[in-house]
Amino acid sequence: MTDVHKETGRLLFARSWDFWRGTPDMAHLPPMEGYEIAFAGRSNVGKSSLINALVNRHDMARTSNTPGRTQELNFFRPGGVEVDTNSLPLVLVDMPGYGFAAAPEQKVRAWTKLIHEFLRGRANLLRVYVLVDSRHGLKPVDATVFDQMDRAAVSYQVVLTKIDQIAPSEIAPLKAAIMKALEKRPAAYPEVLATSSRKAEGMEELRGAIAQVLAERS
Ligand code: GTP
Ligand code: MG
Repeated sequence: MTDVHKETGRLLFARSWDFWRGTPDMAHLPPMEGYEIAFAGRSNVGKSSLINALVNRHDMARTSNTPGRTQELNFFRPGGVEVDTNSLPLVLVDMPGYGFAAAPEQKVRAWTKLIHEFLRGRANLLRVYVLVDSRHGLKPVDATVFDQMDRAAVSYQVVLTKIDQIAPSEIAPLKAAIMKALEKRPAAYPEVLATSSRKAEGMEELRGAIAQVLAERS
């Protein structure tokens, strides 16, 4: 990633971001305005926390200790004064978590359906960041989501979360193991990012990666 992408990424997220829309089903999606970047991952991996860290807000996306916090597709976009009027409109999408066995079966089915339908059926979805808790690594349920995106040719990249909870020496082997698992997956971006929302680590790289995806599409 170049310094230009890092700077563009910094500016994108220096704007003031706000909640835009939330929907529990595909029938009430907001209009497709600009490009969407979605955050997916198992329940409780830290999706909502990562979005807050990206935009420098503590409470824009609601977070919780209890899995199953985010129950809708939540859309966020820059509000207030545009910092850079030349850049493309960008929308961040916080998704419900998957693989949460303790929730009522009917809810789990509804979330799973929503996640899969959104991931394969949104024309302006530019990239999906699939978050993986660095303490747990990849789980079988992640593969079902990768399969979906490979089939739909939706570009995705794995982001490790909560790296403040593991030893720094564990990060490189974990990244390597995930890269190996993604090797033959056509829609997977061949680099794994490492973040901690709590310590605000890896944000510059993630913001830069998002700026790069936008730049390559425009
Ligand atoms: P669902 O919406 O329920 O799927 O969860 P989520 O993936 O949005 O996770 P959320 O951001 O709500 O965070 C879940 C828990 O992980 C909360 O207790 C957070 O405080 C904690 N958490 C999130 N990011 C980090 C991190 O970087 N480090 C540590 N140590 N904890 C984190
Ligand atoms: Mg959430």
